[in-house]
Formats: sequence, structure tokens, C-alpha cells
Amino acid sequence: MNSLADHVAVVTGAAGVLGQATIRGFEERGAFTVAVDCDAKRLEEVPSSATHVCDLTDEPSVSEAFSRIHQLKGRIDILANVAGGFAMGPRVEETTVDDWAGMFRINAVTAWLACKYVLPIMREADFGRIINVGARAVRKPGARMAPYCVSKAAVVTLTEVLALECAETGITANCILPGTIDTPRNRADMPDADHSRWVPPENLAAAIAHLADPSSQSINGAIVPVYGRS
Ligand SMILES: NC(=O)c1ccc[n+]([C@@H]2O[C@H](COP(=O)([O-])OP(=O)(O)OC[C@H]3O[C@@H](n4cnc5c(N)ncnc54)[C@H](OP(=O)(O)O)[C@@H]3O)[C@@H](O)[C@H]2O)c1
Repeated sequence: MNSLADHVAVVTGAAGVLGQATIRGFEERGAFTVAVDCDAKRLEEVPSSATHVCDLTDEPSVSEAFSRIHQLKGRIDILANVAGGFAMGPRVEETTVDDWAGMFRINAVTAWLACKYVLPIMREADFGRIINVGARAVRKPGARMAPYCVSKAAVVTLTEVLALECAETGITANCILPGTIDTPRNRADMPDADHSRWVPPENLAAAIAHLADPSSQSINGAIVPVYGRS
């Protein structure tokens, strides 16, 4: 189970439900994990090797975060971009620029900035695994959620561009598309849904760990549905 021994794995959004599961998955496989999130208090509870508080939409903070994390062990092998968020909104004709920009910042800007500052480190080592988190809503969009669906579609396209730009290197970029995750918040919001059909966070974490594994070197640019039984 120590397939990621000697690897440094950074997880953004690590204070959230999937972020914590992703940290656990990497720790179980022997990685040195760095949990990154904007929520300093919840970050204290995360069972990672190190933590870093950072607003991933603020470019100077992201630059400083990756520089400091790099100094810890002299390498960053894995980046799992889990940070993100969801907001239901009005119909397209009532959507505001703030609705649009807010979803784009939390989902697309966070992933892009983390990639921007990890890539020089990975290129120097000629090794890296980037795993982004989109959503099933890219493939099956819903009404009243245009900013969310479009911002997650941007994460998918970002991944495909990265895969092309890294094709001649030891770096891969892939993206998982979670269906509804079995989280306390989703259970509270949808008490009458069949929760057994939702995807458990640890199953998503296993998919992320698989894409992070050194043996997954030939998987590049994959967009992987992880929907559970729904
Ligand atoms: N939950 C679902 O059913 C579902 C379905 C499909 C896709 N997804 C995606 O899966 C990922 C994880 O979902 P989750 O349910 O685990 O979400 P979560 O519990 O809300 O965790 C997301 C974490 O990211 C952090 N974050 C947000 N913006 C940030 C920023 N600018 N800088 C640093 N950290 C930031 C959040 O902090 P704050 O809480 O302080 O904002 C939170 O700790 C997200 O990308 C989400 O869009 C979720």
C-alpha cells in the first residue's frame, strides 16, 4: 500500500469533505501530504503531514504557498485540485456578473492558479501528477446552475489543454467528474434522496490516488466519471 512513499502530495480544498478523504487516501499510500485551504480552523483537524492556509484565488498567496511547500521536501509530485464550490442560481437571464465571476473564481481560477505555480516545479523534475475535480454537471447540466456548470466545464478544458502541453514530459493531467457526493451537507439538503446511490468520498479519493500513482503514466487528459450508482 506504500505506492506513494517519498511522494509529496498537495491537496487543495483539503478542509472539505472530499479534500479530507483525498488526504487520507494519499496518507494510506505513504505520501507526505500538504493540506491547503482557506479555512484555517478546519484545516487544524485535517490528518495531513503539513498544512498551508491560502486563498487560492489570490495569485501572490498561491505563488508564496507553492514556493514554501516546495521548500519542505524539495519536490511536489502530486497536485489534487479539490477546492471548489456550488451555488444554485436564477435562470440565465437573471444571472449577474457577480454570480458568474464568483463560480468562475472558486472553481476555475483556484485550479488554474494552483497548476500555474506547481508546473515549473514539476517540469524541473520531469515528473508530476495533476488531478482536477470537475462535476457530472459538465456532462449533465441542470437548470438554474449555468455559472456552476460552465465553471466546471472550464476545469475540464483546462485539464485537456494541460495534458497537451505536458504530453512530452513525465507530467500527466487528468480530471474526475464526481456525481452527487455522500456528504453531510447533501444529506441535510436532500433528506429524501436515495443516499446509497451517491458516491462515497473515499471512492473518489481512490480514483484520485489511482491517477496519482506513478504507474498511471500513460493516462493523460482523461475525464473520468465517478458517479457511484446514480
Ligand atoms: N459535493 C458534491 O456533491 C460535489 C459534486 C460534484 C463535484 N463536487 C466538487 O468536488 C469538490 C469537493 O466537494 P466537497 O463537497 O468536498 O466541498 P467542500 O466540503 O465545500 O470543500 C471544498 C473546500 O474548498 C475550500 N475552498 C473554496 N474556495 C477556496 C479558495 N479560494 N481557497 C482555498 N480553499 C477554498 C472550501 O473552503 P470554504 O468552505 O471556507 O469555502 C472547502 O474547505 C469541489 O470542487 C466540488 O465542486 C462536489
